[in-house]
Amino acid sequence: MKVVCLPGDGIGPEVMEAAMRVLEPLPLELEAQPFGGEAIAKFGTPLPAATLEACKQADAVLLGAIGLPKYDGAALRPEQGLIELRGELDVYANLRPSSDGDKVDLLIVRELVGGIYYGRRGRTEDGVVFDTCEYTEPQIERIARRGFELARKRSKRLTCVDKANVLATSRLWRQVVERVKSDYSDVEVQYMLVDNAAMQIARAAEQFDVIVTENMFGDILSDLAAAVTGGLGLAASASLADGGPGLFEPVHGSAPDIAGKGIANPTAMLRSVAMMLEHAFGEETAARELEHAVEAAIHEAPTTDLGGTAGTREFTDKVVEALGRED
Ligand code: NAD
Ligand code: IPM
Ligand code: MN
Repeated sequence: MKVVCLPGDGIGPEVMEAAMRVLEPLPLELEAQPFGGEAIAKFGTPLPAATLEACKQADAVLLGAIGLPKYDGAALRPEQGLIELRGELDVYANLRPSSDGDKVDLLIVRELVGGIYYGRRGRTEDGVVFDTCEYTEPQIERIARRGFELARKRSKRLTCVDKANVLATSRLWRQVVERVKSDYSDVEVQYMLVDNAAMQIARAAEQFDVIVTENMFGDILSDLAAAVTGGLGLAASASLADGGPGLFEPVHGSAPDIAGKGIANPTAMLRSVAMMLEHAFGEETAARELEHAVEAAIHEAPTTDLGGTAGTREFTDKVVEALGRED
């Protein structure tokens, strides 16, 4: 089993190092590849052909984070590599769980390879600049089915978040969800406009179970859900295709404000590793063990974002120690 690792930029390599420490004892082949700003500097492109090919051949792809302030406003950006990689792997189902270990336990199912990120964009002769939100019925149907399947395994409640009072694509989402719903009569469906959904997540996130939503709404709401359940340092994600390798990455970015200081919280990365063990390799026991070890470290050696004093390495030492305690 082969995992391609893309450390990336900023705190990406710092949290990837933590992932390597917990993965190295496992019977997996780990192969690092250049990606993001690092790859632009060396190869003139954020997603070199060899990196893409290695990802396609892998059983799973693990990503730290990409993005650097020096590329702000540049024609070629690290983020373009990530958009291209997600599209090439067709990892349309982005699972972003948030839990506070108490009342809140919600799962955002974000459509990842469509919408405004992938629609037509450009500039007309009269200087109008545009980004277009586009969706087809099959694109919506496959993510809606994922949402229903996941809701079925949880509390059987699905909230479709959209902007159907304004957007044509959102009205299509509602039509498709209504049609697909008849195959999942055990799941209760509600619709919520995205502005209200943001307010409800901030106010009372415990009301949600599974949220299914389009690409950009899911991007924004998942940062918010992370914020109300302990912060971005904790939020993991899995991006899944129908067959082919999944992509596993924290919700957070390269955090330029803390990069190089050794204080990044590796929890989001390590929880993404747990999601990889579960979804890519069916290793549920190993995934739960890693999650418990991370939980122990959060209590015994919290990082600064959690109000503690531990750095990335000290936190990871605790994780490794707790993993040892489990056997
Ligand atoms: P960010 O997620 O990098 O950081 C936002 C805030 O959260 C910062 O204050 C940061 O210090 C903090 N934070 C994030 N991760 C943390 C961690 N593990 N531990 C402790 N604190 C953490 O968002 P940003 O600053 O808006 O973006 C920076 C760059 O990252 C941009 O170039 C952006 O495009 C990119 N980005 C990449 C990804 C990705 O690679 N998947 C995701 C989001 C943003
Ligand atoms: C995320 C990030 C990315 C996104 C950026 C870096 C392209 O914010 O994974 O949440 O918007 O999808
Ligand atoms: Mn984001």
